[in-house]
Amino acid sequence: MKIDYDQNEVKIEIEGSVYNLHPLWIRERSNEENMVDQNSLQRLYDPEKLPVDLKISDLTRINKEKVRIKFSDDHTAEYCLKSLSKELQRSKGLPEQILWDNSNIELKNFEFNYDENEDDQLLKILHYYHQYGFVLVSGLDPKDGEVINFANKIGYIRETNFGKLFNVVSQKQPNDLAYTSIELESHTDNPYRKPVPSIQFLFCIENSCEGGDSTVVDGFKVASDLKNKKPEVFETLSKTLINFKFKDKDAVLEKTGKIIKLSERGELKQIKYSNRLDFVFYQQPDQLEKFYESKRLMHEMINSDKYVLKFHLDPGSLLIMNNYRTLHGRTSYNTAEGSRWLQGLYIDHDSAESKYKLLAHE
Ligand SMILES: [Fe+2]
Repeated sequence: MKIDYDQNEVKIEIEGSVYNLHPLWIRERSNEENMVDQNSLQRLYDPEKLPVDLKISDLTRINKEKVRIKFSDDHTAEYCLKSLSKELQRSKGLPEQILWDNSNIELKNFEFNYDENEDDQLLKILHYYHQYGFVLVSGLDPKDGEVINFANKIGYIRETNFGKLFNVVSQKQPNDLAYTSIELESHTDNPYRKPVPSIQFLFCIENSCEGGDSTVVDGFKVASDLKNKKPEVFETLSKTLINFKFKDKDAVLEKTGKIIKLSERGELKQIKYSNRLDFVFYQQPDQLEKFYESKRLMHEMINSDKYVLKFHLDPGSLLIMNNYRTLHGRTSYNTAEGSRWLQGLYIDHDSAESKYKLLAHE
């Protein structure tokens, strides 16, 4: 790492990229005593306390890891180059995502042991989850509510109009197709909510029916393949606005969004796909023709053998899925023989990310 300065900027070169750092940008990262509270590391000053024309007066390399910078208002601070470089390279502090389909997925089943070190086990589970967008855990007590106990180890439960948890069983008068025994093709959950639930836990208590296999698809892999091979389809799905709707006697929920949501930097951010709940906004017929063709192609992909990973959940097994990245579904089942009882709930991304970072750091 090369580092240089003049009075207007500090210049850092990391792996061939040059970053020009504004004096105020560096100053905001000073963790010296009079700048931040030493317990919380939160700033003790307001922006107007710093001169707008702040300059760099001096820069000394203390060693390989540290640098000391003096500013024109006489403040001196030490900086860790590793943290600066992590921030500049926009490291999220999470495992790299591995996009997958059936040709490269390494399906692992994490057998949870209540008597062994919980943190070690959770770290491995969350590592895999962040890489692949889902994870399979087994060996839990197959009893009512155990999914709440396990979810509480990772984060806070997001309650919805379906309750703190929802029972996925076949009902006589269901308010959602999940509560029937028919096949559910690949979808993401609840695209009609604001915000859409982040992570779904689906826990198996009973599953002795014929059929009822679970399916998972990496939506980011599908989107990235579309981007490379069918850029016009990718473009249509990432630009067309859709109204997602849910209605029953107690709730009317609606949200506008796109099937493929991108960040401002063009990165894949979220897949929202539920073929039974989406209503594209009015457009001229030729525009809609493109949309319907594109949606049909994506629908075929997310339900094809190339992308659908299928497995049977046994009692005590838990499937944790990133509802912004993966799609899920199930095959139909027959309740004439045996029973099928799953319990589901949602937690937020920030809690799972925070838990991983805390465990990985320790
Ligand atoms: Fe679902």
